[in-house]
Amino acid sequence: MKILVVGGGGREHAILKSLAGEGRQLFCAPGNAGIANLATCVDIKINDLDGIVKFATEEKIDLALVSQDEPLVLGMVDALQAAGIRTFGPNKAAAIIEGSKAFSKDLMKKYNIPTAAYEKFTDSAAAIEYVKAQDTYPTVIKASGLALGKGVIIAQDFEEAKEAIVEMLDGGKFGESGKEIVIEEFLTGPEVSVLAFTDGHCVRPMISSKDHKRAFDNDEGLNTGGMGVIAPNPFYTEEVEKIAYETILIPTIEAMNAEGRTFKGVLYYGLMITEKGPKVIEYNCRFGDPEAQVCLSLLKTDLLEIVNAVIDERLSEISVENEDGAAIIVMMCSGGYPESYEKGKEIMGLDEKGQNDAFYYVFHSGTKMADGKYLSNGGRVLGFVAKGKDIADAQNNVYSNIDKVSFEKSFYRHDIGGKR
Ligand code: AMP
Ligand code: GLY
Repeated sequence: MKILVVGGGGREHAILKSLAGEGRQLFCAPGNAGIANLATCVDIKINDLDGIVKFATEEKIDLALVSQDEPLVLGMVDALQAAGIRTFGPNKAAAIIEGSKAFSKDLMKKYNIPTAAYEKFTDSAAAIEYVKAQDTYPTVIKASGLALGKGVIIAQDFEEAKEAIVEMLDGGKFGESGKEIVIEEFLTGPEVSVLAFTDGHCVRPMISSKDHKRAFDNDEGLNTGGMGVIAPNPFYTEEVEKIAYETILIPTIEAMNAEGRTFKGVLYYGLMITEKGPKVIEYNCRFGDPEAQVCLSLLKTDLLEIVNAVIDERLSEISVENEDGAAIIVMMCSGGYPESYEKGKEIMGLDEKGQNDAFYYVFHSGTKMADGKYLSNGGRVLGFVAKGKDIADAQNNVYSNIDKVSFEKSFYRHDIGGKR
């Protein structure tokens, strides 16, 4: 069986590790140096729809899996399916749940799914007028479209809000993605990531997790794609889980069905546990990164079995089982990330497979190979996963070993999962 995964980060490395097995031949486009130990990497860009379809057709791929936001929003699943390739992931009509915050906010309003109050704008004068009239800070300004996780500004006062509005609507920051904005109420409370498989009928969540988005310890510095994750999320109690399932998880897939946009794949619910209960901060139309590396490391059920059940719309017939205990990932990044950073630094402490035995697994986010050496090739470079009987144990297992691997100017957060 030939399986193709489209993407080239830690998330795709984790997906491929979970899909690996006897009789399964793995391909990844474009992949990276770590992934190359599990799959044949093919040099096709993630947003090259024609290139991917051509490769999948010529190679007679039996199953394709698309896990990055951009190709999903562009309609890569539709293109592959149209070419007769069995594909896992939402189609373009469903991926809009991440591709347009204006769409997802309207969806939640229409179907009474709990979320922050908001208004949408395309005109800066009207937006500025609205913020002035509200006169409540902080206030949250969001580019409606995809913006690599950087399109959210928490404005502390009127001047900051105005600047963000003008930059996006008039200044072309984020390009087309910022041509429409959402201004929303600032919520407080712990955040939870819930990655759930759905076939449009049934929702089967993976273990809950907690991302750490800020670059530095104590949640200081800029927002990043994610510096580390723990699972399970201690704030996602059974009680909260039950409320979220009934008021958010199920209503969202029903709402998408009612809109004629049935979602099949992994739906990522970014929740905030407010005093008034769980509310949606954002939806993503795919596995989170780095959440996937941790959640998949704790998944006991064969991922391929789940993927097939989703595609064939019989997810209700299977259960999604997790291991007991906890897991953590700490990301090692290039100095300067998430702003400018250098690439091409030699990584010390990895064996020829790009691993180090001290960890459950080392997932590669941004690496390349030159002269038999692993080099850094991105902002987020490596993710170290450790497991434990609880979070503290998992933390200990990762942090007592992480300095065995390093490269020039590498850095990581010391407080993933809380201070030790
Ligand atoms: P997003 O890219 O939508 O995940 O937003 C990035 C981060 O901004 C979230 O993880 C939250 O920490 C924060 N955020 C987004 N929306 C709100 C909100 N309405 N209230 C408070 N914080 C928010
Ligand atoms: N870690 C957040 C995301 O994947 O968007």
